Amino acid sequence: MIEELDAVLAAAKDELATIDDPDALRDVEIRFLGKKGKITALGKGMRNVSPADRPTVGAKMNEVRNAVTAAIAERRDALEAARIAALCADPGFDPTLPRPVPLSDGRPGARHPLTLVTEHIEDIFRAMGFLLLDYPEVETEGNNFDGLNIPASHPARDMQDTFWLTDGNLLRTHTSTGQVRTLKSVAPPFRAIFPGRVFRNESTDASHEHTFHQVEGLMIDRHVSVGNLIYSMKALLSEIFERDVTVRLRPGYFPFVEPGFELDIQCQVCGGSGCSVCKKSGWVELLPCGLVHPNVLRYAGVDPDQWSGWAFGLGLSRLVMMKYQIEDVRHLLGGDLRFVRQFRQG
Ligand code: DAH
Repeated sequence: MIEELDAVLAAAKDELATIDDPDALRDVEIRFLGKKGKITALGKGMRNVSPADRPTVGAKMNEVRNAVTAAIAERRDALEAARIAALCADPGFDPTLPRPVPLSDGRPGARHPLTLVTEHIEDIFRAMGFLLLDYPEVETEGNNFDGLNIPASHPARDMQDTFWLTDGNLLRTHTSTGQVRTLKSVAPPFRAIFPGRVFRNESTDASHEHTFHQVEGLMIDRHVSVGNLIYSMKALLSEIFERDVTVRLRPGYFPFVEPGFELDIQCQVCGGSGCSVCKKSGWVELLPCGLVHPNVLRYAGVDPDQWSGWAFGLGLSRLVMMKYQIEDVRHLLGGDLRFVRQFRQG
């Protein structure tokens, strides 16, 4: 019996020495210490040991069981330490981030559909070599209006109802503010997107919110043409919808682009035959865009004789609503966990 116990301990140590994943470790634990494990089986043999030998064998039995238990624990600690060391070596790992807080009802949350769609779009653009930039929600009048060729007297300022702050700044009414900021700080040629929240002083209904999400895109290079713009917009919408999409272009007026366009996409819900999402028209207005106005370049100190570019402003609420067939925009920011949990993945 004593030899058998020694042999079991030696076998356990041998096996443990080669193990490098937690599942295999658990397997060893079961085979040695589990209900039908080797040590348990030997324990059942105690009844055949003579009463005189029992104290010695019993003590040995405990010693071996403890030794195997300790060896497994030691191996588990080593594996965990190696796992953490590997995580820390990853440059994307940030140990200062707060840990996820469980929700008050104890059930797991889910990522919001706006987050899912934003991350998808970010991946697409990152793969196409775009910079991904994040800009403030509180903005100056200059970045929100003047730099975008919208002077104080311009009627376009009335197009957007603005939340003004008491210090003269404002909550940005569109992500186009990022155009001014990027043109001022990044030397062309470049391509960049800036996703974010924007705010307008509007009353809310099924298709209007005071807070919504946009992704702005800007590409600056030499000799950028309308053909280039249309090709790029169609390519990116096909990526977003993961299929070839039919688009149509209408002239659209925005002071910061010339020419400006409204790009409509054939309704992805009804396929163009007409439904409530496209208000029976078969088309959904999705993507205003255009060639960057020379005044916008000039304001930021970029020479319009050398550089040109295109810009677009993608409204994310509508995109998310189309993708997930959500009928009321107010669900998006309503804060109802039952809504968000429908988008739980995996
Ligand atoms: N900033 C505009 C808005 O929120 C949308 C827009 C239109 C953005 C045309 C652009 C553009 O970049 O080229 O209404």
